[in-house]
Amino acid sequence: MIHDRKGVRAMTVSSLATTRRNGRSPATAVSSYTEWDPLEEVIVGRLAGGVFPTWQESMRATMPPGSWRLFQERGGQPFPQDLVDAADEELDGLARALENAGVTVVRPEPADHRASFGTPHWSSSGGCYAAMPRDHLIVVGDTIVESPMSWRCRQFDGDAFRPLLKSYFDRDARWLQAPRPQLTEELFATGDHDEWAITEFEPVFDAADFMRFGRDLVAQRSHVTNASGIRWLQRALGDGFRVHTIEVNDPHAMHIDATLLPLAPGKLLVNRERYVPNQLFDGWEIRKAPQPALPPDWPMYFCSPWVSMNMLSVDERTVVVERQEEPMIELLTDWGFRCIPVDFRHVYTFGGSFHCVTVDVRRRGGDGRYLARVR
Ligand code: ALA
Repeated sequence: MIHDRKGVRAMTVSSLATTRRNGRSPATAVSSYTEWDPLEEVIVGRLAGGVFPTWQESMRATMPPGSWRLFQERGGQPFPQDLVDAADEELDGLARALENAGVTVVRPEPADHRASFGTPHWSSSGGCYAAMPRDHLIVVGDTIVESPMSWRCRQFDGDAFRPLLKSYFDRDARWLQAPRPQLTEELFATGDHDEWAITEFEPVFDAADFMRFGRDLVAQRSHVTNASGIRWLQRALGDGFRVHTIEVNDPHAMHIDATLLPLAPGKLLVNRERYVPNQLFDGWEIRKAPQPALPPDWPMYFCSPWVSMNMLSVDERTVVVERQEEPMIELLTDWGFRCIPVDFRHVYTFGGSFHCVTVDVRRRGGDGRYLARVR
């Protein structure tokens, strides 16, 4: 045991794995506590019908500068059809690869995101897409939570998942939606020197700013997730769960899943540029993701090439990885993982990879404590 000024008790590696884990299938339709337990059912997103987001100033903090004018001028207009088709083909390929691995895959229906909409305070030229369910939804145990997102254009694109949510609700899932955010000007920072693009005016978060480690969740404050959003989720989940906000080194922070990714109990993959050592991971083996293999001129509307590490675990020994990320495949193989290679670079263009485009609805195994305890 190590004690320090914060009262940290570091756990030994042998004690990391777990209380109450088991190999049994959950009794409920929705049950998922970790990023690595054996995957039984997953939502895979769909890009068809997607449109360029409608610009808002807070996007400047996170979006590649090459996209700013595109979003300003073409918000609500469809993405180039050839790029959408190529990405949808890869999403279909992911669905097939997961089915071949024995996983049940469910998909949203195609949706048209071109309709403009507004509130008494603002309007949007259109929606965005249903390609990235991880941004909208988080499953914690038997509960599915819909996130209150800070991008105005994304207030309704998550409706594409409603038929699935209603069907899980009919099969006894707990279904929570965070309070509808107003997204008025007060939410958005105005000063050039503000650390974050959003204020604490009201709770907002993207579900992809959280990582699940059994009864502990790890969160980052970001340009789309504020401290009150993190507090809301903690309170909604109750005392049985603990949400830890960690520090990361990412001036463009938006979604934690290209910053750290737990692949198995005690095995954490981190982004070498962003990860700041944290006592929560005392006892964990930490490896740095290799530089992404993507060519520098690849079109990227929404994110950095670090989505190379945005992977999905089928179980604690098996990871879905982009076929051309050879250094990553080498690292994972050397670390004892089996890789399922899937082509996915055209999906990268739209802002994510395997973790972003999925929500794991059901994984075998129960809750557990995997992180070092910080009092
Ligand atoms: N926002 C994250 C990145 O661009 C996913 O790396």
